[in-house]
Amino acid sequence: MKTNNKLVLGFFGFGVVGEGVYKVIGQTPSLSARIKKVCIKNPDKPRNAPRELFTTDANELLNDPEINIIVEMINDSDAAFNIVSTAMKNGKNVVSASKKMIAEHLPELLALQKETGLSLLYEAACCASIPVIRNLEEYYDNDLLHSISAVVNGSTNYILSKMFEEKLTFKNALLQAQQLGFAESDPTLDVDGYDALNKWTFLLTHAYGIIPEKGQLVFTGIQNINEQDAAVGAQKDCVIRLTAYAKKLKTGKVAAFVLPRFVKQDDLLAFIKNEFNGVVIESSFADKQFFYGKGAGSYPTASAVLSDISALRYGYKYEYKKLYHHEQGVLTNDFFVKVYVGFTDWKYVRKDEFESVEEWNSNNKVNYLVGIIHFKKLFQSDWWKKNGVSLVLTSDPIIESLDVVRLKKRSLELAGYTG
Ligand code: HSE
Repeated sequence: MKTNNKLVLGFFGFGVVGEGVYKVIGQTPSLSARIKKVCIKNPDKPRNAPRELFTTDANELLNDPEINIIVEMINDSDAAFNIVSTAMKNGKNVVSASKKMIAEHLPELLALQKETGLSLLYEAACCASIPVIRNLEEYYDNDLLHSISAVVNGSTNYILSKMFEEKLTFKNALLQAQQLGFAESDPTLDVDGYDALNKWTFLLTHAYGIIPEKGQLVFTGIQNINEQDAAVGAQKDCVIRLTAYAKKLKTGKVAAFVLPRFVKQDDLLAFIKNEFNGVVIESSFADKQFFYGKGAGSYPTASAVLSDISALRYGYKYEYKKLYHHEQGVLTNDFFVKVYVGFTDWKYVRKDEFESVEEWNSNNKVNYLVGIIHFKKLFQSDWWKKNGVSLVLTSDPIIESLDVVRLKKRSLELAGYTG
């Protein structure tokens, strides 16, 4: 592998992540990387770095032949895509932390990497400090990977932890997540599940060779989750986690989504609290593995950017093995899920869409059902996302075929257990 000892960096962005990377590079002399220029939008903002480092002219970096790595850490995903594509066309390798940009432009970014032969690395864009992309890319063979369940958004996990374990209000928990620098500048991206969806979009490419199209993945966030949902979960010995999930079904196709889920107290996902992220991978031979670490914040995100910069010294590139060298995975909505649905009024729930309802509570205090619904029904409608309704997957949500459920019910009936 080609080794490049001279790393000359051009930064875009000097916010929570950019400043963090600036500091960690200063503390890592062994990397021998030099930051030549930092492009920022607002020149009047005070910065904790020498003034002469900054410019507002993107071309100063993009056209500088000495800069061989562009490190892109800005919020605006359209501008980020322009920067990344121009940099690569100008012969520069790129490290990016822009999950939204990567999710929105995945096909173009794949094409750019092919055309230019250059490297685009983005480990920081999903789960920050946890090296999940490189692990999925390098370590796991497509056929062996049964499922991945993950908490990939630190802010929502922080809010859920603070609300239900420390009894903070939603507003205060969100405010703290913002003050600590975990939340997006538009926190709806976190709360309504868009950020987790973006991360899951490209993680599916590295895990299963899938490039989800816009609108193809079912998702929501924690915007409707309330005290009742947490209390019902607690009765079932569960906590709620916004879970990104993918599973290879018996048909060979892949079920994938981002939805709130009840997880048992002894489940590894329940162990993930506050701004931490975690990924549980199940594979044929290794069985279950758990990756855990900080998924947001300045230094944890900077650590992943640093690792990508360092990997470029050795010419590291994502090979997209599952996409180019294996049989590509195919997404399916053809399966059933067991869900809890909390509601403020019965009229909001489409009961006729359920295959069966096994729990039903509706009185002045608690209003919810637990039932089985075809996943296609969730894909086709959004009643379950609207105000007054909160949908939470049960702890073992996927049912591949109802025959198994029917057989189990029949055997219980024969044994005299059910009415
Ligand atoms: N807003 C994101 C989160 C930041 O809370 O996970 C890290 O990607």
